[in-house]
Amino acid sequence: MEYPESMERGLTMAFARVTEAAALACARWVGRGKKNEADDAAVEAMRGVFDTINMKGTVVIGEGEMDEAPMLYIGERVGSGYGPQLDVAVDPLEGTNLVAGGLPGAIAVVAIAKRRGLLHAPDMYMDKIAVGPMAAGCISLDATVLENLGSVARALDKSIEDLTVVILERERHQKLIEDVRATGARILLIRDGDVAPAVACAFERSGVDIMMGVGGAPEGVLAAAALKCMGGEMQGRLWPEDDEDVARAKKLGIERVDKLLTMDDLVTTDDIFFSATGITEGPLLKGVTYIPGGAVTHTIVMRGLTGTVRFIEARHMFAKKPKYAIGENEGSHSQWKG
Ligand code: FBP
Repeated sequence: MEYPESMERGLTMAFARVTEAAALACARWVGRGKKNEADDAAVEAMRGVFDTINMKGTVVIGEGEMDEAPMLYIGERVGSGYGPQLDVAVDPLEGTNLVAGGLPGAIAVVAIAKRRGLLHAPDMYMDKIAVGPMAAGCISLDATVLENLGSVARALDKSIEDLTVVILERERHQKLIEDVRATGARILLIRDGDVAPAVACAFERSGVDIMMGVGGAPEGVLAAAALKCMGGEMQGRLWPEDDEDVARAKKLGIERVDKLLTMDDLVTTDDIFFSATGITEGPLLKGVTYIPGGAVTHTIVMRGLTGTVRFIEARHMFAKKPKYAIGENEGSHSQWKG
């Protein structure tokens, strides 16, 4: 099938390189107790590779507002300045505490869409529920835990007791955890990093079936992009903590903060790419491993239009790679002029 107006499919590899570079740069900080340094390394490396790509990208989900983040802030322009106008959502290090503590589950992740293809999610919490393609259409944030798990179990041809629900280990989830336990389902409690397990729900042998609970709204859009590529489903509802959160959502054009956000609200187009590279071992991807003279990365990259999902295991030989691709970036980053 031809997609004349679509983003060029060759961008697949370009975006895989973006997350590979962030993971390679950040992996140096695994277990060293320095989350800011780890995050800075991932951001810098990701920023450097974006500028090698022919596109006019605008960061819509990033490291924060312009005054909070020096790079990959919301509204920043990335890319060479030639090519299509694209929305760019990034989380160069998803799981800062995981990297600092040398714990599993950290990834570098991006989603790219045509302009206005991704919800410009404010930096606040979102209540989320996510499943893979076989259970798409069987969940609702408005249903009870028992109703959701019952219909997911039926869709997956499993008993509720054989389902595994991923939940962030947080005080706010005490009631949710009790409700899930009451159904008999298994729970995988995670310390941080809810994007990878949400995406892992789309793979039947990943060991997880459904992700539930309150986490970051930006992370929700990133996971929704992957699930959209794979025919899975995510629903979200913003979870403001104060009036400032409500104002932040309105500023980004979300008038009703209590609106149930469907898959099509979170990601409005199929013309999207998603790429994630493992930093530490997780449910979806292996972490960066060092080999003599280099490192091996494990990346998942998807294109929404075709639904193609690629796992790329790459060997990187440090002596032969450009510095920007392994997180040893120098020099300034030019923003394209709009
Ligand atoms: P960071 O990488 O920004 O630390 O986010 C990790 C994360 O665990 C996300 O995966 C999750 O959505 C969010 O933080 C949960 O927020 P909180 O730690 O405040 O409960």
